[in-house]
Amino acid sequence: MNLSERDKQVIWHPFTQIKTAPLPVAIVKGEGAYFYDDKGKRYIDGIASWWVNVHGHCHPYLAKKISEQLQTLEHAIFSGFTHEPAVQLAERLFKRLPQNQSKIFYSDNGSTAVEVALKMAFQYWSNKELPKTKVIAFENGYHGDTFGGMSVGARNAFNNPFAKLLFDVIHIPVPVKGKEDETISAMKTALQQTDIASFIFEPLIQGAGGMVMYSEKILDELIHLCKEKNVITIADEVMTGFGRTGKFFASDHLQNKPDIICLSKGLTGGVMPLGVTTCAQFIYDAFLSDDKMKTFFHGHSYTANPTACSAALASLDIFDLPETDENIKRIERQHQRFLQKIKHHKALIEVRQLGTIIAFEIKTTEHTNYLNSLAEHISEFFISKGIILRPLGNIVYILPPYCISNEDLEYIYKTVEEFLETEV
Ligand SMILES: Cc1ncc(COP(=O)(O)O)c(C=O)c1O
Repeated sequence: MNLSERDKQVIWHPFTQIKTAPLPVAIVKGEGAYFYDDKGKRYIDGIASWWVNVHGHCHPYLAKKISEQLQTLEHAIFSGFTHEPAVQLAERLFKRLPQNQSKIFYSDNGSTAVEVALKMAFQYWSNKELPKTKVIAFENGYHGDTFGGMSVGARNAFNNPFAKLLFDVIHIPVPVKGKEDETISAMKTALQQTDIASFIFEPLIQGAGGMVMYSEKILDELIHLCKEKNVITIADEVMTGFGRTGKFFASDHLQNKPDIICLSKGLTGGVMPLGVTTCAQFIYDAFLSDDKMKTFFHGHSYTANPTACSAALASLDIFDLPETDENIKRIERQHQRFLQKIKHHKALIEVRQLGTIIAFEIKTTEHTNYLNSLAEHISEFFISKGIILRPLGNIVYILPPYCISNEDLEYIYKTVEEFLETEV
């Protein structure tokens, strides 16, 4: 049996219909923007391995720093103990984060970073003895697969079996072009309720919802409305952080800064699992008390794992190099050029681009949807061409590691055009 067949015997994969899915591709090596399978075939990782890999695979500097950390302190309990990588990482993140952020809470993935944010906001109000339990969120959002994350996300196929178990959320329309007034009006109506704890959003772009984009101007206005009513604002930057939108954080595009920010994915350069929830001082202050019941009773065994923190520190070193910024700008320019070329293609409903992300919404006889049957065909086509692009239904997107070359980007663009010409 080869590796893919052995896998089938023992493994249950995420987001995969186990009855019909083809055998998984067995990856044996990563290098820069490439993967190699067990037959020696090379693939361009066009989606940065679920949006985490920002500097390329097996980056030698990341490998060196992680290896050094493994030989010094690989892991330590984080309640009652601390360590240099966790403290240094917090200090360095604050140099990059909006100035209103002042404390960092560690966890170990994007969903837990969101879960921590929601719990912080709920308990903030509980500690103030003003229990507020409702959340405002956008329709079509995705915030992870834990129960809090599912509750604030779109109600869809991902969480349908759990619908009755999810907590109450006021979903307002996404303020895409032309719908801004509708969103503002829905927000104003929601804010008339007095029990709103928080407003959570994916800033400027909804990832899993289909790379749906909206303007910073409207988000600024929504945050302003929330601040007027003392509603805590939570930016879920799990996907948008670390350069994806062209700036270091999507919040850097905004005048009004969120009270809480969730980070993961690109945080460690995509090599180790780590989650971070940052908050403004006023939130932290609500947990300072002689009353033990006001403690934030939340933590994970791997909270602030030193090896993961050292990966994040090494990743920040690479972000400090001018070439990383130049690469982000270069990818942005290449995407913009291709958008101009392809935007009127007859097989497309729309092309969208923000920073290093470009998305193509393909016309089909079905509605635009994650379960659109074109998805499998798209994946197989690109895999056969040596490109990993895992579509969101009929939406194909490119979200590459920043080290990808212009030649590889051109090859992906050319293959997208070929797909639209021959397969739709
Ligand atoms: C905006 C956003 N929030 C949260 C998550 C959940 O992150 P994780 O998959 O690490 O749990 C994701 C994952 O795609 C995401 O895009």
